[in-house]
Amino acid sequence: MHNMNRVKMIDFQQRGDERGHLVIVEGGIDVPFEIKRVFYIYGSDRKVIRGQHANRKTEFVMINVSGTSKVSVKDGEGNEAIFCLNRPHTGIYLPTMVWKDMYDFSEDSVLLVLASEHYDPDEYIRDYNVFVQEIGTKRT
Ligand code: TYD
Repeated sequence: MHNMNRVKMIDFQQRGDERGHLVIVEGGIDVPFEIKRVFYIYGSDRKVIRGQHANRKTEFVMINVSGTSKVSVKDGEGNEAIFCLNRPHTGIYLPTMVWKDMYDFSEDSVLLVLASEHYDPDEYIRDYNVFVQEIGTKRT
């Protein structure tokens, strides 16, 4: 349950005026890490399930800057929490070693992802059983 307790929604500062909205996300200030990588996911639909991995080293913040999606988070010990991303000024913080699935993407969904590390395929765990095993090893 430990890492799951660290998952949280973050509300970002909005500076809207008559010209429109502006949302501010600063590394190390609004998100709890320095941002080393940014990627975004769009063109996924209601049938797609993405993610399906855990990360040994990388922390993430995900923001649906347009549209909506859902994120399921599992701790590898039988607990699951589901979060709706449906506001351009709210993100979800995901610590290391939680299993995540992103799904139920609206047609206009643009899911912006901020990451604490550069891409390294070796720090991704893509087999759920390996994830459960590593969580178990950490506990003992
Ligand atoms: P994948 O991890 O499957 O995406 P998701 O986060 O939705 O599960 O990544 C899709 C492909 O893109 C895969 O071949 C790895 C590659 N990729 C990079 O090269 N760099 C990155 O920063 C990311 C997130 C993915």
